[in-house]
Formats: sequence, C-alpha cells, structure tokens
Amino acid sequence: MERFWRFSIFFLLFLVTFARNPCRQRVYPDTATGAAIGCVCNASYCDDFDDVGNITKDAFVLFLSSRDGNRMDRIDYHFTAFPNVSDTITIDFGKRFQKVLGFGGAITDSVGVNLRKLSQATSDQLINQYYGKAGIGYRLTRTVVASADFSTHVYSYNDVDQDFDMKNFNLTQEDYLYKIPYIKQALSLSKANGIDLKLFCTAWAPPGWMKSNGKMEGGAKMKGSTDGPYYKAYATYYKRFFEEYHKEGIDYWGMTPTNEPLEGRNADYKFQVVNFEAEDERDFIKYHLGPMLQENDFTKNISLLIGDENRYAFPDFADTILGDPMAAPYVSGFAYHWYADEGIPPDVIDQTIQKHPGYINLYTEACAGWHDYELSPVMGDWGRADLYAHNIIEDMSHGVQGWVDWNLVLDSQGGPNWVQNFVDAPIIANFTADEFIKQPMFYILAHFSKFVLPDYTRIGFVSPDLNLEGLAFLSTDQTKRVVMLHNQDSQNGHSYTLQDTGNTLRFANLYLPPSSFTTLIYNM
Ligand SMILES: *[C@@H]1O[C@H](CO)[C@@H](O)[C@H](O)[C@H]1NC(C)=O
Ligand SMILES: *[C@@H]1O[C@H](CO)[C@@H](O)[C@H](O)[C@H]1NC(C)=O
Ligand SMILES: *[C@@H]1O[C@H](CO)[C@@H](O)[C@H](O)[C@H]1NC(C)=O
Ligand SMILES: *[C@@H]1O[C@H](CO)[C@@H](O)[C@H](O)[C@H]1NC(C)=O
Ligand SMILES: *[C@@H]1O[C@H](CO)[C@@H](O)[C@H](O)[C@H]1NC(C)=O
Ligand SMILES: *[C@@H]1O[C@H](CO)[C@@H](O)[C@H](O)[C@H]1NC(C)=O
Repeated sequence: MERFWRFSIFFLLFLVTFARNPCRQRVYPDTATGAAIGCVCNASYCDDFDDVGNITKDAFVLFLSSRDGNRMDRIDYHFTAFPNVSDTITIDFGKRFQKVLGFGGAITDSVGVNLRKLSQATSDQLINQYYGKAGIGYRLTRTVVASADFSTHVYSYNDVDQDFDMKNFNLTQEDYLYKIPYIKQALSLSKANGIDLKLFCTAWAPPGWMKSNGKMEGGAKMKGSTDGPYYKAYATYYKRFFEEYHKEGIDYWGMTPTNEPLEGRNADYKFQVVNFEAEDERDFIKYHLGPMLQENDFTKNISLLIGDENRYAFPDFADTILGDPMAAPYVSGFAYHWYADEGIPPDVIDQTIQKHPGYINLYTEACAGWHDYELSPVMGDWGRADLYAHNIIEDMSHGVQGWVDWNLVLDSQGGPNWVQNFVDAPIIANFTADEFIKQPMFYILAHFSKFVLPDYTRIGFVSPDLNLEGLAFLSTDQTKRVVMLHNQDSQNGHSYTLQDTGNTLRFANLYLPPSSFTTLIYNM
C-alpha cells in the first residue's frame, strides 16, 4: 500500500513536472557511431520540453541531450553535503565576464522556399520551434539584402546601370514570398512571448553595375574611389532597403556593411561577393553608410557591426576602422564567421576585445557540412552537434556575446542553393511526408537559446579534465546560475561533482553520458 502511494505521488509529480511531447525518433544509419537520431515533427506533432519553473534553494535541474537519444530531457536533483567523486567542476561566482546578447539563425530565400513547400500547418509548426511559445526563443535573426548563394538565382534591387539615386530601386518577388512573411511571423510570435526580436541584415554584393567586374558574383572591388558615386550608391541602396522594409512594418536592430568582404579577393569566387579591404569598409562607413543611416529615425540607432568575416579579418578590421576618428563613432561592434576557426585560434578575438573594449562581439554565421569533401546534411549526426557545442563554448569563453546560426531550414539536399553550395542545417524539411527533422545541432542551439538569456553575465568555469568543457552564466537578477556542460568523450560517461564558490558547503553530483550536452540550473 505504501508502495502504491509512493508510486502514485511520484507519478502525479511526474505528470505535472514532466508533461511534454518527447522526441519522435527516426534512426538513420551511421557507420561511425551506429546511432544517428533525428526528431521527426509534422503539422500536428513536435517534441518540446518543460519550462524550468521555480527551483527551490536546495534543488537543481538538468536538461540533457545526448548522441544516444536524450533530447532536452529534464532531471530534477538535490544538492548534497558531500561530493561523490573527486573530479570537481568549479563555478567561480566571483569572476565576471561579458554579457550575453543572444542566439539566432537566418531567414534566407532558401528558408522561405522550403517553408512554402510545406503545408501551412507544418510550416507554422517549424517556425514555432524557433520563435513560438514552445520554441527555443531565438533573440536574433539575420536576413539577406537581395540575393545570396542561398537563393534560387542572382538578383539585385536595382539593375539600372548608373542609377546612383536608386530611382529604380524595388524589392522583388523573393521579398514578398520568401522573406517578409516569415520575418513578420517571427516578429509577432516573439512579441507574443515578450521577446523583442533583434533583426540584422547584410547584402552579399551590390548590384553588378557598381562592381568593377560588372556582375554580383565573382570577387572584385567596387568601381571608382571610396569617396565616389559607386560606393555612395551602395549606401543609398541600403537606405532604400530599410525604407521599403519599414513600410512593411519591419525595422532592423543591426547590419553589417557587406558579407564576407575578404572572399572578394578571389576573382573566381562562385557567388555574390564584393571585395572590401578594411580600408574600403572604413571609407564606405565614414563617407556614406554611417551618415546615411543617421538620415532616418528608424535607421539611426542601427548597430553597425564590422567584418562579418572569418577570424582572419580580426583584429585588422577593428584596428583600421576604429583607428579613424571619423568612421569609429558609427561602429557598434564586430561580426565573426566560423569558417576558419579550425585553423585560427580564438586569440584574435581576445586581441580584438583587448584593444577595443566595450564593443559588441557576435558570431553572425556558422553551419556544418560546408567543406567540399563533406556530405551536406547528415541526418541525425551527433558529430555536428559536437562541432556547434565546442565552437559556441570556445567563442563565448573568449568574450563573444552571441552566436547566430545560418539557414533555419534546408531541404534534404542542403539547399536550395543556386551554386550548389549545399550545407547542413538544424532543421531539414522532408516534403514528401510534409514533415521536418530536427537534427542534433538544433538541440545545442536550444540549450543555449532557451536558457542563456540576454544580459546574463558569464562567470568563471573550471573543468577538471579535457573531456569536459563548459560555460557558466549568472541571471540578470543575480540569483540563477545556468551551467553548460559538454562531455566530448564519445566512449565513456563521467561522474563529476560541481561546486559553486557562492556556497561551498553543497555539491551537485552529476553523471554525464558519453557525447552529451547538459544544462544545469540552480539558484543561490
Ligand atoms: C504526425 O505525427 C504524429 C506523431 O508521430 C502521428 O501520430 C501522426 O499520424 C502524424 N500525422 C501525419 C499527418 O503524418
Ligand atoms: C514561482 O515564483 C514566483 C515568484 O516568486 C511566484 O509568483 C510563482 O507563483 C511561483 N510559481 C510556482 C508554480 O510556484
Ligand atoms: C516593384 O515590385 C512590386 C512587387 O513585385 C511590383 O508590384 C511593382 O510593380 C514593382 N514596381 C516597379 C516600379 O517595378
Ligand atoms: C534611438 O536612440 C535614442 C538614444 O538611446 C533614443 O532616445 C531614441 O528613442 C531611439 N530611436 C528609436 C527610433 O528607437
Ligand atoms: C522522408 O519521408 C519519406 C516518406 O515519405 C521517407 O521515406 C524518408 O526516409 C524521409 N526522409 C528523411 C530524411 O527522413
Ligand atoms: C551519489 O551518491 C549517492 C549516494 O551514494 C547516490 O545515490 C547517487 O546516485 C550518486 N550520484 C551520482 C551522480 O553518481
């Protein structure tokens, strides 16, 4: 009888605390690990996870995802007076670092093309995963000004040669079909959740007639001198873009002067690009873009982030642009991409921050499966979740304040992409079944976006070994701790004891499964 009651009480608590839709697993063949698990969602079903709720002072909560199938699974524990093991993770409450800006992804033409191929209900379900009530609460969203490689073709907003005043500027079908509706949906869902979604944008290239090679694709500089009419026209083009989007009710928080400006050194570059050396970007900002953004109320507070380029642009872009007293006042921060991170250590971020403190440091693009030798989407692959986890932890350990993923959703080929530059994404759409699959990468982003909120402060984290890497954050009201734990060991689980310098009399005893990612939350 006693057992029955204990069981019933447990079961009731279970229902109340743990009511959720679990991941509907689809297991894909994976020669490396044997298990590659995707979570399948459709118009009527998608996995979600529990709210954190109130955590009592002696309790802590874990959310666990793992290669072997956990997906944001909640486990409730209590602190104990004794450590189980000697491997101690130390959370150093006294050490304070950067404040968090947020996490997000991008709405490209390809994202819109894919969403439109799903039924309305499935498309809504998908958008809800990122912005809806049961979603992961993205705070940042990047969009593309005109076309990128993740478009079905090349286009600009004004192909009329020498129309420096942008008299023939016009948005395109792509804006009305693939971008504006989804940006609006993301904004309104966010708003309903009390989230002020920050939008930022950039162009991959100006219209071809402004470039010395006469076309949007292929590496080349713009025509003429940096204080001349072509550079000015590119700024006017942006100004007109913001005006047209403003008419649609869409205002931007931020922008970058142009996407990946150093790739434009390569004349054979396959897709839209323009070469801005740091000096070109500096002059573009000081002569044209900076002053022009001041002309409209809805653009004058735009956060201008420089670079939008791999680590190798730093600290040079920051030094060169901020070194000019006429350009510097227009700049709010630095935008990094992850595509050279394997070869360039994060020291360049440290140097940039050390030399130029007080600026925003944001990762603005990353995706897996981009190397030529890799498959584009790999269904259910945990290795790519590891890459995301490791990179976010590394970047934030070096002062980065937020991390923005690339396409919200791609098709099973990793596109569409007009130059077949196919890559992976956290969500892959499956049109034949009107469903979508949430990849392991999605859950890494979920762990961060859901629990590490804007204005949280990073605090000290010390790992006892090389298998485990992590981060710790302090909530805005200084009460809550959010700890991220990445067990990189693919063979073994590990037991740890976690101790917080804010209260050294209690211990959190943890077991972290092989290849897993855990968020731990507690109060002081
Ligand atoms: C959607 O998924 C749920 C849960 O797996 C399933 O019961 C339902 O039949 C699916 N609906 C369709 C239309 O496939
Ligand atoms: C959680 O705490 C808040 C603030 O102390 C309180 O208003 C709320 O009722 C609590 N919720 C639950 C479910 O206990
Ligand atoms: C601009 O684009 C819109 C939408 O495609 C179209 O309705 C309108 O006619 C275009 N205007 C010009 C001047 O081309
Ligand atoms: C721009 O920023 C200033 C200073 O913070 C503020 O007073 C103003 O309301 C902002 N304007 C808009 C349109 O947000
Ligand atoms: C897409 O759905 C079809 C059934 O329509 C199924 O055979 C296929 O395995 C699914 N693709 C993925 C990547 O899950
Ligand atoms: C820690 O030790 C207690 C008591 O022996 C045990 O019940 C618990 O499962 C252990 N926890 C971990 C995470 O190993």
